[in-house]
Amino acid sequence: MEFSIKSGSPEKQRSACVVVGIFEAKKPTLPAELLDKAAEGRISEILRRGDMTGKAGSTLLLHNLPGTLCDRVLLVGLGKEKEFREKQFADAVRATIKALNETGASEASIFLTELAVRKRDTAWRVRHTAIAALEAAYRFEQFKSKQDENRRSLRKLTLNVERRNELAIAEAALQQGIAIGRGAALARDLGNLPPNVCHPTYLAERARALAEEFGLECEVLERDEMAALGMNSLLAVARGSHQPPKLISLRYRGGAAGSKPIVLVGKGVTFDTGGISLKPGADMDEMKYDMCGAAAVLGTLQAAAAMRLPLDLVALVPATENMPGGNATRPGDIVTSMSGQTIEILNTDAEGRLILCDALTYAERFEPETVIDVATLTGACVVALGGVATGLFANKDGLARDLIEAGEEARDRAWHMPLWDEYQDLLKSPFADMANIGGRWGGAVSAACFLSRFAKKYDWAHLDIAGTAWKSGADKGATGRPVPLLAHYLLQRAGDAA
Ligand code: BES
Ligand code: MN
Ligand code: ZN
Repeated sequence: MEFSIKSGSPEKQRSACVVVGIFEAKKPTLPAELLDKAAEGRISEILRRGDMTGKAGSTLLLHNLPGTLCDRVLLVGLGKEKEFREKQFADAVRATIKALNETGASEASIFLTELAVRKRDTAWRVRHTAIAALEAAYRFEQFKSKQDENRRSLRKLTLNVERRNELAIAEAALQQGIAIGRGAALARDLGNLPPNVCHPTYLAERARALAEEFGLECEVLERDEMAALGMNSLLAVARGSHQPPKLISLRYRGGAAGSKPIVLVGKGVTFDTGGISLKPGADMDEMKYDMCGAAAVLGTLQAAAAMRLPLDLVALVPATENMPGGNATRPGDIVTSMSGQTIEILNTDAEGRLILCDALTYAERFEPETVIDVATLTGACVVALGGVATGLFANKDGLARDLIEAGEEARDRAWHMPLWDEYQDLLKSPFADMANIGGRWGGAVSAACFLSRFAKKYDWAHLDIAGTAWKSGADKGATGRPVPLLAHYLLQRAGDAA
């Protein structure tokens, strides 16, 4: 989709479709009033008749409105004016894209970007419109042999701002929104790909392609190189698979010379059967999404590079399958991680932490300023927070605060969970330094506690995205989260750096 910014009046737009909002109780927004005036009261007449009441999510398409230059006008219901906040704004943009896709219009000029949203400025509204529009327009149809002939899609969107002196700010925000929206779309594509296509070697190829396109540095470590580094925990997970594991690092250098990087570590289990601790069969296909952490850090790096942020960044992806097999790791096996700490693997299905711990140790060599890992780590996190919030853990409160705030700003929220010492006791093993599972209760916390033991040398946060990275059911698919959260965190850091 193409985007542009404009400052103009709705009745003068030569557009296939002009989009304006109506609040509940049939209250037109200012752009709707301007159209109404030009059309000699046609919109107020429609409101009076009750065809559009302003109910949130409702839309009404009008053709050939007199006194205007556009082919169509789309009225979008915004709900109660008093309750109009960030969520309602994002919902209205989504409803708009959905309705536009059902018309013949390939292009539209939208005025929702002029609506006041409490505590949020023009830049926020523009950025979010671009992100929400790209999100709503996303399709994953590459494995359908026939495209749907009736499906049309919007090609061009013009976002209007009230004042001409906002154009420069709006243009910059638009570019950020596009970069973030595309980064999230990349993450969704990688997540949605079937596990026979998206294996560790494929992820490494895609990382190399990103490096080529955006001028990044890419390095891929093979099994023997990981063995030489002592990554026995990561390699224990890969033992059952015929697909070779990869440790992928992708580096973006946008910061001042000598600046320390922010390292984003993404869990890249391209299929999680559970291994010898085999998962039950129902919905096991969804374990293709077990690489959504990897997808998110690659998508975030792409977004950061597209925005040319003045920061140094590394995306680090331990990639492997978790399969059963004659050579697979057994429950009871003990391995020595790269850090030197020994781990009794009591459940081979708790594999995410086993690959992440070696990646966290490896991250030390970048002398990171901050490390954030992103992982579909525990079913327990889904039980705790459902699909609304990502679970956030950190060894530094300031970092947790910054990430929470970035999530609020991005409308891609995280919730701060505890990492108290009391929980560390759950990981005791009679035979090794620790066990890889902590028992039935508090599973998201004990998993995070496990990781914390490998993240002592830097400021670190862990995002458990098991509930937020994809949706199940009829509209099953990867969400692209937490790319918006991470990208907003980096924007905020870039602001500090500038
Ligand atoms: N990838 C799963 C976590 C998961 C499960 C994400 C369901 C989304 C939905 C992870 O590798 C896993 O299997 N975790 C186990 C850990 C347990 C064995 C301690 C879990 O959550 O059941
Ligand atoms: Mn597992
Ligand atoms: Zn897993």
